[in-house]
Formats: sequence, structure tokens, C-alpha cells
Amino acid sequence: MRGVAVDGVRISQGMATGDVPAAVAILIEAFAEKIAHELRPRSEEQLVRLVTSGISREHALVAAARDGSLIGVAGVAAPGRPFFHIPFAVLRREFGLPGALTRWAYSLLEVAAAPRRPGTRRVEVLAVAAGSRGRGVGSALLDAAADGARQEGAKRLILEVVDTNGRAKELYERAGFRATRTVRSGALTAGAGYRAIHFMRRDL
Ligand SMILES: CC(C)(COP(=O)(O)OP(=O)(O)OC[C@H]1O[C@@H](n2cnc3c(N)ncnc32)[C@H](O)[C@@H]1OP(=O)(O)O)[C@@H](O)C(=O)NCCC(=O)NCCS
Repeated sequence: MRGVAVDGVRISQGMATGDVPAAVAILIEAFAEKIAHELRPRSEEQLVRLVTSGISREHALVAAARDGSLIGVAGVAAPGRPFFHIPFAVLRREFGLPGALTRWAYSLLEVAAAPRRPGTRRVEVLAVAAGSRGRGVGSALLDAAADGARQEGAKRLILEVVDTNGRAKELYERAGFRATRTVRSGALTAGAGYRAIHFMRRDL
């Protein structure tokens, strides 16, 4: 694992098995609205099972506090290699066939946003535990994602941010990302708390 110290916070490539429960909790906290809208879990236990099944540990970057506890997660996708993907078989087991199909539809939106060119990497997920925000952890994870992508020979890093997340957009602009286009999703995603998606890019 590669490590970079940032103000007592350590960023590493890859997620240890023991860190998965903490990472799942951070993701659920950070994306509660989106997850509730897209997955409509029937219980907290089911939600934890679903998110756990979707994580690809080797494509994660994690931030740990001085005491070793996990405080942030980033997921980086390459072409044909997503960070987060809940297998259809898992959805089917959890919800039955009709329930799995309606939820599966949202993964098609992810396919549309996936990186295609070999030199592109996508920051698919960025989340910092609520109590640790505003201290540079998110920015450090973004920098580590850029470093990792550069080491793989990638030429550009892309990500998306929704119209209602203006502070995250500012964070990305400070990190050198520029908006390339905006897709208005309107009523389709209003239930998830946003109506447009800004696509952003940073050349490496
Ligand atoms: C966005 C997020 C990853 C930023 O992590 P962070 O560690 O707080 O980021 P940093 O400390 O490096 O930078 C702080 C900046 O992040 C942005 N930010 C966005 N949401 C924030 C929040 N809830 N609290 C603090 N900063 C936030 C702001 O630009 C802030 O700078 P400001 O205080 O001058 O406005 C974190 O707030 C988070 O997990 N939010 C929920 C999930 C999310 O929205 N992810 C991004 C999806 S595109």
C-alpha cells in the first residue's frame, strides 16, 4: 500500500478488508439521499449488505486518522473497471426479479458516466466522514487520486457533481477541475435531490 501523510492523516491506495465496515458507513452517511432514492433498501442491514457487495477494495483510496480509524474514501474507475457496482445477482437475491430490474436501471446511468478512453480515470466516489470534513481530507484524497492516475499513465481525471452540491463543485475547481458540460436530468432525479449534473475534468 502506498501512503502519504497529510496533517496526521494518512492516505493509502487499496482498502483493507477490516476497513470495509467503516467505509460502508461513510458512504451511506455521505450519499444517504441518493442511495435511498436508487436502492430503496428495506432495512439498514440490507443497505449495509448491498453497499458492501458493491465496493471494489483495490480501486479505493482511503484516509485514516492518526489513531488508524477510517475517515474518508475515494473510488477511482478506469475504462471497464468501475469502483462501485452491485452485481445483479445480489439485487435479485435481495429484492426478487421485478425489484432487481427497477433498481438495476440506475446502474445504467453509471455506465453512461463511466470513463471510455484508455487515458481517462474517473473519481467515481468521494466521501469524508461528517465529523472530519473541512480539514483538507477530501482535497488530499483528490490529490492522491490524481497521483495514482498519473502513475498508471492516465492523461485526465474526470468526475461529476450535482447542481445542489455547490461546495463540492468549488472544492473540485480549487483542485484544478473545470466543468466541461452540464446535463439536465430534471424530474428524473429530483427525488434524489438534484436536477442537473456538471461533468468536470482535470488534465494530469
Ligand atoms: C465533498 C467532501 C468529500 C469534501 O471533503 P472535505 O474533507 O470536507 O474537503 P476539504 O476539507 O478538502 O475541503 C473543504 C471544502 O469542501 C467543500 N465541501 C463540500 N461539502 C462540504 C461539507 N459538508 N463540509 C465541509 N466542506 C464541504 C467546500 O468547498 C469546503 O470548502 P469551504 O469550507 O471553503 O466551503 C465532503 O464534504 C463529503 O463527503 N460530502 C458528502 C458527500 C459528497 O457530497 N461527495 C461529493 C459528491 S460529488
